[in-house]
Amino acid sequence: MKKNFLVWLVAIMAGLQPVFSQSASITEPGVAVFYPAEFDSIRTLPSLVVIKELPKRDSLPQDWSVRPNFVKIEGKNAVRFNLDEEIDLYGTGEVIGDLRRNGTDVTLWNTDNYEYAKFEGKQLYQSHPWILGVRPDGSSFGILADNSWRQEIVLEDDAEIISDGPSFRVIVIEKESPQEVMKSLADLTGTMALPPLWALGYQQSRYSYYPDTNVKELADEFRDRKIPADVIWMDIDYMEGFRVFTFDDEGFPDPAGLNDYLHNKDFKSVYMIDPGVKQDSSYFVYQQGSKGNHWVLDSLGNEYNGEVWPGQVAFPDYTRPETQKWWASLYKDFMNLGIDGVWNDMNEPAVFDGPGGSMPDDNIHRGGGDLPEDIHLRYHNVYGLLMVRSSREGIMEANPEKRPFVLSRANFLGGQRYAATWTGDNSATWDNLKMSIPMSLNLSLSGQPFNGPDIGGFTESPSADLFGNWIALGAYYPFSRNHTSKDTEDQEPWAFGEKIENVSRTAINRRYRLMPYLYTLFHEASVTGMPIMRPVFFADITDEDLRDEQQAFLLGEDLLIVPAWAEDAEMPEGDWKTVQFEKEDDGYQATVKLRDGAIVPMGPVIQSTEDYSTKQLTLLVNPDKNGNASGTLYDDAGEGFGYKNGDYSIHKFTASKTSKNKLKIKVEQTEGERQVNRQYRIGLVKDGKIIYSDWSSAKKLELKFN
Ligand code: NOJ
Repeated sequence: MKKNFLVWLVAIMAGLQPVFSQSASITEPGVAVFYPAEFDSIRTLPSLVVIKELPKRDSLPQDWSVRPNFVKIEGKNAVRFNLDEEIDLYGTGEVIGDLRRNGTDVTLWNTDNYEYAKFEGKQLYQSHPWILGVRPDGSSFGILADNSWRQEIVLEDDAEIISDGPSFRVIVIEKESPQEVMKSLADLTGTMALPPLWALGYQQSRYSYYPDTNVKELADEFRDRKIPADVIWMDIDYMEGFRVFTFDDEGFPDPAGLNDYLHNKDFKSVYMIDPGVKQDSSYFVYQQGSKGNHWVLDSLGNEYNGEVWPGQVAFPDYTRPETQKWWASLYKDFMNLGIDGVWNDMNEPAVFDGPGGSMPDDNIHRGGGDLPEDIHLRYHNVYGLLMVRSSREGIMEANPEKRPFVLSRANFLGGQRYAATWTGDNSATWDNLKMSIPMSLNLSLSGQPFNGPDIGGFTESPSADLFGNWIALGAYYPFSRNHTSKDTEDQEPWAFGEKIENVSRTAINRRYRLMPYLYTLFHEASVTGMPIMRPVFFADITDEDLRDEQQAFLLGEDLLIVPAWAEDAEMPEGDWKTVQFEKEDDGYQATVKLRDGAIVPMGPVIQSTEDYSTKQLTLLVNPDKNGNASGTLYDDAGEGFGYKNGDYSIHKFTASKTSKNKLKIKVEQTEGERQVNRQYRIGLVKDGKIIYSDWSSAKKLELKFN
C-alpha cells in the first residue's frame, strides 16, 4: 500500500496517471511476471510469443530491482522502468544504428522499408518487444512486453514501452549474465529448430535469376570456378504473373527438371512465396481461398484487396485455424517438385496502395481456435509470424523426413521457432556494410540467431572493393546469402574480376572449413537459444570497454572476427591468437582469432555441404596460460530427424600441455549413438603459424613441437 502510494505520488508529480494494484509474481527462478490492474487477457492473450504457462509461484522478493510502472503516456497504455544510467541496453529487435541502444527509440510496426529510408529507419520489417540490460558488473536483465499491438520502445531517460493497444503483461528476467538472460528468453519463447546443414552454406540470390537456363549456368559456374555454394534462390519472376504456387511457362516450364539439375550439382533450391494472392477468378489459389473464406476482411466485413506485385491481391487470414491448414496444404504439390526451401517475403504485410504501405488498422482478422477476432492493429506485427508458422507446417507435411527451411522478411519476437531472417532491402554502401554487424547482433540478442543481411547490398551496385570487403565479412554471418535487386549490376563473386573472385573464394572456403564449429553453434542455439553471432562483450561481461564494440564480433564463444576494415576495435583481454588460414594476405580477409583455452574443430574445403564429412578434423587449439583448452563438436546426418532418436554425437576435447613442448588432447564422446570412424590432428595455433600433428584415430592425440 505504501509502495503504491509512492508510485502514485511520483506519477502525479510527473503528470502521469498511474494504475493501481498490479500483480507481480515470480513464475520461475529469476523470472517475474507483472500484470497491470486493467489487464484484459482477451485483448493480448493467448501469447504468440511465450510458449509456456506462467504460473504465479512466489511473491516478488523485496530486492527485485527491475519493476515496471504501468502508466498512461499521452493516453496510451505504457510501462516505464527507471533504469540506472550505467546500464547498457541492447536488443529491441531489427534496428539500424548502434549496437548499444541507450538513447534510441524504435517503433514496433512491421514495415516494408526499402533502403531503411522511411520513418528514419526506426521501423523495419520485424518487431521484438524486448530489451536486454547489462549492468557494470555484468549482471543482466531482460524486459519482454507480451504484446503484439503497435508499440514503441523509448530508451531515453527511462525505458518505456508505449502501446497503441490495451494494457499488457510484462515479463522480467533477472540473471547473472547476459548469456543466462538469452537462455531464459529462449526457454520462454522457444528456440530455432535445427536447420538442415545445407542452410548453413553460402547462398546465391538475385531478383531474379531468369529463365531456368540462367539458373543452371549459374550452378555450373560455381562448380567450374570452385567457389563453394549450397543454394540458389528463385525470386518472384519464376511465377506466372506473380501468382504464388505457379510457374512461368516460358521461363520455368519444368521446375522439377530444374531442381533435379541443381541437385545433381549438389545445389539446393529455395523459392519465394508471398502472402498476397492475385485476385483472379480463374486462378486456383484465389478460387480455393475465396471458397474457403480465407481472406482478411475490411472493416465492413468484405474481402480486403490491396496492391502487391501481381496487382490487386487478397490476403490469407492466418489467425484462422482453417486458413493456416489450407495455406499449409498448398505446399504439398509445390515441395514435391523438388523444392528444398521457401522464402516468405512481403509479409509485413506490404501493400503498395495501403495506408503506411500496409493494410488499414481496422481491417478484421477473424481468429478462431484460441485466437479471438480482432482488428489489424493487433495482428499486424504477427502476420508474418503466423504466415511462417503455417508455411513451416505445410513444408513439414510435404516432406516429413526433412528439416524445413523458411526465410521470412517479417517476423516477431519468438518467430525464430519458424523461420530464419534477413534484414530486408539494404543498399550497397559502406554504411550498410558496417551497420550490418550491430543489426545482426541486436537481432541475435533478440532471440533470432539465424540472420544476416544481403551480402553486397540489395539496392545499387557495390564497387569491387566494397563487394570484396562485404563477402570477406559475409562468410561469417549466420545466414550467408548474396542478394541484389533488379536492374543492378551482376553481383556473383566473379562479377568483379579475378582479384575479388579470389577474395570471395578464400572467404567462402573459410566458412566451409569452419563448418564443424558453425554447425556445433547452430546446434547449441537450437538447444539453449544462445546466439551464434555474439557481441564482443560476451567474452568478458565485466569489461565495460567492450560494451559498444560493433566492428568486431564473436562467433560462438571461441572465435573473434575482426573485419579487415575495422579501426581500433576493442579486444577482450586474453591471448587470442590469429588463425593463419591459407591464402590470406589479400587485404580483405577478416582476422579470425581463437580464444585462449579453446579448441575449435575444422574440416577441409568442400564445394557444398553435400560433401560435408567429419571423418578428418583438425582441432585448432590455443592453450591457456596453464596449458589447458577444451572444445566441443556436434555431429549428425545434417538432414532429417534421426538426431532426435540418438543418431548424433557430441564429442568433448580436452587439451593439456604435459610439458613445455608437448600437447595432448583427449577425445571423448559424451552424448549420442552416432559412430564415425574419424581421424583427428592437432593444429596448435601459435603466433604466425599453425603447427600440425599427424593424423590419428586414437582417443588421445599428441603433438610435440619446438
Ligand atoms: C522485396 C525483398 O526484400 C527483396 O529481397 C526481393 O528481391 C523483392 N521483394 C522481390 O521479390
